[in-house]
Amino acid sequence: MSIPKVRKAVFPVGGLGTRFLPATKAMPKEMLPVVDKPLIQYAVEEARAAGIEEFIFVTGRGKSAIEDHFDQSWELQEQLETKNKHQELAALGEWLPAAGAVAYTRQMEPLGLGHAVWCARNLVGDEPFAVLLADDLVLSQTACLKQMTDAYAEAGGNIVAVMDVPREHTNRYGILEPGETSGSLVQVKGLVEKPAPEVAPSTLSIIGRYILQPEVFSQLEKGERGAGNEIQLTDALAAQIGTDPFHGLRFEGERFDCGDKAGFLRANIAFALEREELRDDVQAFINNFANNS
Ligand code: G1P
Repeated sequence: MSIPKVRKAVFPVGGLGTRFLPATKAMPKEMLPVVDKPLIQYAVEEARAAGIEEFIFVTGRGKSAIEDHFDQSWELQEQLETKNKHQELAALGEWLPAAGAVAYTRQMEPLGLGHAVWCARNLVGDEPFAVLLADDLVLSQTACLKQMTDAYAEAGGNIVAVMDVPREHTNRYGILEPGETSGSLVQVKGLVEKPAPEVAPSTLSIIGRYILQPEVFSQLEKGERGAGNEIQLTDALAAQIGTDPFHGLRFEGERFDCGDKAGFLRANIAFALEREELRDDVQAFINNFANNS
């Protein structure tokens, strides 16, 4: 049986971002910039690099800045054209998905990640799809989702991106009970959402990248509550173990938790050091700062 291509990606962006208040009082947390690009744009560009053609945002109240970001900005474009600011013009729109390639739906209640994904069921339909959490930013040679779609083309089924975390942090993640390993793929024998370190089946944790089969929607439909009394995507996936192939992919690259202040700051430094025009300046500042403190 041939494995169908992953054409659609879901971006759950309904979360409140309370950890970044007051910055996120009137601005979606997904619009926080790492260097000069909002987190959500990194996620969309990563999806495009993996061949995604349709971009589905599950939004909420106060998130309209995201819709404006993925739209033309005629006034600004005209002004930049008049002033011959070609570089700035390119920064405005080269990365925009084509008209009609972006769709929005709302998560009307904050009932958890599983519920957010379920809200996209009619837009996804009956085909495999990706889920990207913009808080998780990955710096890598090959886009993290592209690594996953390449692995999926061979293995099919469900695939989650995984990495080892310190045992004391297992209660922040979906944790794998790992089975056999084949190269960078680990068979998923079990999954637990945010287990305490003493009972976690491993330290291999899901970061916010998934390739999923549409069958997950029937499980989510049941609305069963899990950790934190929320409808958890991890639980819906755990219920599917044994039906389809299911793997964790140890991806190449460094993941930054941009839902956390320290992780967000680290991401800014790491991504700035990747930029030729900023590298020397930022590096000199870091060296100086380290020597003087
Ligand atoms: C969500 C998932 C969790 C996953 C994490 C990755 O948790 O529920 O399984 O490990 O994203 O960032 P959240 O960070 O939304 O609490």
